[in-house]
Amino acid sequence: MLWSASLVSLVLLLSSLEVFGAPSPSPGAGQSISLSRRTRSRNATELAQLAQKQRLTLAAKYNAQSRQKRSTGYNLLIDQDSDSGYIGSLAIGTPAVSYEVLLDTGSSDLWVAGSSCAACGSSPSFNPVSSTSFQNLSTPFAIQYGSGEAEGYLGQDVVQMAGFSVSNQGFAVVDATSQDLLQSPVSGLLGLAWQAIASSGKTPFWQTLASSNAWDSPLMSIQLRRYGNDTSAQTEEPGGTLMMGYVNSSLYTGDIDYQDIPGTPGFWSLTLSSITAQGTSVSLGDTTLAAIDTGTTNIAGPTSSIEAIYATIPGSQPATGEWEGYYSYPCDTDVSVSFSFGGPSWSMSSADFEFTRLENSADCIGAFFGTDTGGNGNPYWIIGDAFLKNVYSVFRYNPASVGFAALSETALSMNGVDGTVPTPTIGAVTAAVTGAALPNYALSKFALIGSTALVAFLL
Ligand SMILES: *[C@@H]1O[C@H](CO)[C@@H](O)[C@H](O)[C@H]1NC(C)=O
Ligand SMILES: *[C@@H]1O[C@H](CO)[C@@H](O)[C@H](O)[C@H]1NC(C)=O
Ligand SMILES: *[C@@H]1O[C@H](CO)[C@@H](O)[C@H](O)[C@H]1NC(C)=O
Ligand SMILES: *[C@@H]1O[C@H](CO)[C@@H](O)[C@H](O)[C@H]1NC(C)=O
Repeated sequence: MLWSASLVSLVLLLSSLEVFGAPSPSPGAGQSISLSRRTRSRNATELAQLAQKQRLTLAAKYNAQSRQKRSTGYNLLIDQDSDSGYIGSLAIGTPAVSYEVLLDTGSSDLWVAGSSCAACGSSPSFNPVSSTSFQNLSTPFAIQYGSGEAEGYLGQDVVQMAGFSVSNQGFAVVDATSQDLLQSPVSGLLGLAWQAIASSGKTPFWQTLASSNAWDSPLMSIQLRRYGNDTSAQTEEPGGTLMMGYVNSSLYTGDIDYQDIPGTPGFWSLTLSSITAQGTSVSLGDTTLAAIDTGTTNIAGPTSSIEAIYATIPGSQPATGEWEGYYSYPCDTDVSVSFSFGGPSWSMSSADFEFTRLENSADCIGAFFGTDTGGNGNPYWIIGDAFLKNVYSVFRYNPASVGFAALSETALSMNGVDGTVPTPTIGAVTAAVTGAALPNYALSKFALIGSTALVAFLL
């Protein structure tokens, strides 16, 4: 179960809160507001003091803008288990300790295993007592997946990533998970989608940076490497780069095509305009809302559309048993699928269509699987890494949109190349931000958000 009814309640709750919080309309054109001259109640000395104070604070305010240096930064990723998941590193606390976290543009909470978590495995864990800046918010937090769950409590602390620092980042310290939820070296998950779908209610790290103008450009971009068809791939390989505040023109070619997120941003969602499989257009009906999700390995869509995709591949059939929902097809078929979100058509390689080979068989399992959990504001399609390895992706805060561009030869030449796996570095902070204090909507009771991440990741 990827998407829960609780998430729908959460979205409804948020939209009703927004109604109450709506600003009153500003005077329309043609209306006039009468001005009145204020009589001076201050003497000259007082006025001079006031004038000086204004002069100084104004200077400080505008200097602050140039002094609060806008910046860029990047984080080198790890590709875990032949493209199963992409891991970045961040640091938490004072003194800062670094952790490896799954990067998930399909959810919006940050959580890390706490040191009291017995079931969190051998991954490094966060000990709140060792951080002098940790504040316990004492709010319960729980998150559920198709194949496990994690729970704990909310706190806030200094979080650093890619040279940026947020002094009061809200996140969950997880003290219980189902067995094997975390695979070493992963200590948790960094949600990179919008606050509207954060089960903690906390502003995501990236959104604090984007909204406070800490970035040169209000966007982050991702290049993911491919090792899925590299039989000599190690458990960990270099995974690509997460870039904050800029796009790296060495990694893509041509234009970036941006498409707006429909409605209020929550997921990084786009409206699919077409899917073509083996040259045949797949009927989408009105089930076109798609989430762009680095935290999901594969690609999920409505069962009828998935059936239509495999219908273009002779010899394909629904898989059974542990592969229910997936399809098998002859491995020697080159399958070409392309997506359009209103702009250019983006194709994915046959290598990414193949999820895995069945043992002692000429059949493979495809990366597309069926699910009918879309609707009510939830996406019908989850476009995961199987597609995202084929493009340079840009997640833009303002205007809220997702952009894709073709990978450059430089980026393509990194696929399947063994290299040094990045190790977490804390590095120097180039821009520090304090997030706005936000009301705690006590959303934790709705905290059943379906992070697609681990669902597919653990399959
Ligand atoms: C101006 O007002 C302040 C505070 O009321 C007073 O201390 C000061 O003597 C006044 N100066 C003049 C020039 O009246
Ligand atoms: C934080 O608060 C929660 C809930 O009250 C509690 O279970 C947890 O032990 C506290 N953690 C620390 C480090 O004090
Ligand atoms: C993996 O797939 C890509 C994309 O189709 C292809 O260019 C590359 O040659 C393949 N690598 C191997 C080792 O087969
Ligand atoms: C851009 O990408 C190229 C190729 O990977 C790399 O050498 C360069 O350091 C990157 N620059 C930045 C600012 O990320």
